[in-house]
Amino acid sequence: MAKDLLSILDPAKPVSGEKLARKLGISRQALHKRISSLRRRGYRIQGKQKAGYRILREPDRILLSRILNELKTRSFGKNLIVVEKTDSTQNEAKTLAEKGVSEGTAVLAEEQTAGKGRLGRTWESGRGGLWFSVILRPAFAPQKASLLAMAASVAVAKALEAGAKIRCRLKWPNDVLVETHKGAFRKISGSLVEMSAESDSIRWVVLGVGIDVNNSLPKDLRKTAVTLKEVSGRTIDRTALLLKVFSNLEAVYGAFVKRGFASFKGEYARRSILRRGMEVKLTDPSAHVKGKFSGFGNDGSIILALSEGKKSNFFAGDIS
Ligand code: BTN
Repeated sequence: MAKDLLSILDPAKPVSGEKLARKLGISRQALHKRISSLRRRGYRIQGKQKAGYRILREPDRILLSRILNELKTRSFGKNLIVVEKTDSTQNEAKTLAEKGVSEGTAVLAEEQTAGKGRLGRTWESGRGGLWFSVILRPAFAPQKASLLAMAASVAVAKALEAGAKIRCRLKWPNDVLVETHKGAFRKISGSLVEMSAESDSIRWVVLGVGIDVNNSLPKDLRKTAVTLKEVSGRTIDRTALLLKVFSNLEAVYGAFVKRGFASFKGEYARRSILRRGMEVKLTDPSAHVKGKFSGFGNDGSIILALSEGKKSNFFAGDIS
């Protein structure tokens, strides 16, 4: 990870000017310039002659120094690249994956200009959300990779529930929803899996996660989507939320690698908006199907009882 001033400054205690300048390999004068530039960007930095510099208030930004200090994972987010703006963190992560970076490496952007959603959709990604992609190198068969998006939705739901005291529901396959009014749900997060594979083995998976946190949503999305700030009524500490998401993701992923879908099927089904017997309309690029929901397959598919009484498994598409 590139050393920058923000990754060395510590909100918990002052760091001496001498240490900062030494770590950055710059003069004290250059350090003062960088401190002033941060102040102009909205950071409140206390400077005391003997003690040094300490961040008192940060703008709503992901703070690398905190992540380095507080991240408890083995690999997820340990190598984290934070960029101000990019087209899509999926693209950045795919380039890194091709270069051979290790599992758990992640790319996060404060803003995406061409965020990607499922099924070729665009993903609105203005400042204030959490937009990141993690590189994975699982040893399982390529057919199982799409379940990683379902695993991610459980990890995100648990992080949101713990951090903001809300209850999340899941819409198959990978949408995380929040109940905004009785019986009315809006989407708060989605995840996307892209991979490079041979016929029977995976070279890399890039798992992208988008969470609407403190960002503002464009008008056309406000009926179907919601931010965590709106549902909780306060500005969210995105760094804390990211730390929680990384640790949940690592745990859910680790269990999935060992035990497959069974490892999180219960947690998924419990939060699912689908209940047995519910009328479901499934739309995928090639077909529209109607049926009664009769459960999740062990491969992450949904099982629908069709009108002819026959049961079928479906692996992709949108449900309503
Ligand atoms: C969906 O629900 O359609 C999936 C949304 C995935 C969005 C995330 S944001 C970070 C990563 N970069 C992207 O371009 N997309 C994913």
